[in-house]
Amino acid sequence: MITPEWHDGRRDNWIHRTIFKLKKCWIIYLCMCIILLTLVIPVVVAVLSKCPQTMECSGKWIGVRKKCFYFSSDTKNWTASKRFCSSQGSELAHIDTEEDMEFLRRHTGTFMHWIGLNRKQGESWKWTNGTTCNPWFEISGNGSFAFLNADRVHSSRGFIDIKWICSKPKF
Ligand SMILES: *[C@@H]1O[C@H](CO)[C@@H](O)[C@H](O)[C@H]1NC(C)=O
Ligand SMILES: *[C@@H]1O[C@H](CO)[C@@H](O)[C@H](O)[C@H]1NC(C)=O
Ligand SMILES: *[C@@H]1O[C@H](CO)[C@@H](O)[C@H](O)[C@H]1NC(C)=O
Repeated sequence: MITPEWHDGRRDNWIHRTIFKLKKCWIIYLCMCIILLTLVIPVVVAVLSKCPQTMECSGKWIGVRKKCFYFSSDTKNWTASKRFCSSQGSELAHIDTEEDMEFLRRHTGTFMHWIGLNRKQGESWKWTNGTTCNPWFEISGNGSFAFLNADRVHSSRGFIDIKWICSKPKF
């Protein structure tokens, strides 16, 4: 039969032995902690410092869902607007979803803005990245360059100087 005293005694003994062992090894544990921290801290710092750049759009760019948009205050013709967007590592605005369209229309206000669609005579519309577009939205007029206003997407010859919108993916 195990008496309570004997049981406790044995357990105390075991605890004492364990503590003794731990005391002997404390320097090893300390080293392990230091090594772990020197490995983990740089990773955490790197991840945290990267977050603002990948999560948000910088400067005058506005983040909406997966994209950053830039609304110009300057005005240019379509070709010069496209060149500006390229120089910023972006495209003249691509509109992929109803939500994008809704957002862009609200922000164009009373101004006309070039977007990244054009067509050659007798051909279908193309995005500036070269992808042929079967527009899920209507483009009025019979010009070759598309622009957006608060109302809808229109087309014109690309010569006039108006504002423009650039877009790029957030990630
Ligand atoms: C080009 O842009 C369109 C519209 O944003 C997109 O659907 C398509 O995947 C893009 N193509 C390439 C090759 O990036
Ligand atoms: C479309 O083009 C034709 C001839 O190219 C022209 O007569 C017509 O006025 C144009 N329509 C619009 C809405 O610009
Ligand atoms: C667009 O504007 C640029 C610079 O302002 C000019 O050099 C170019 O000839 C214009 N292109 C058209 C098609 O009007």
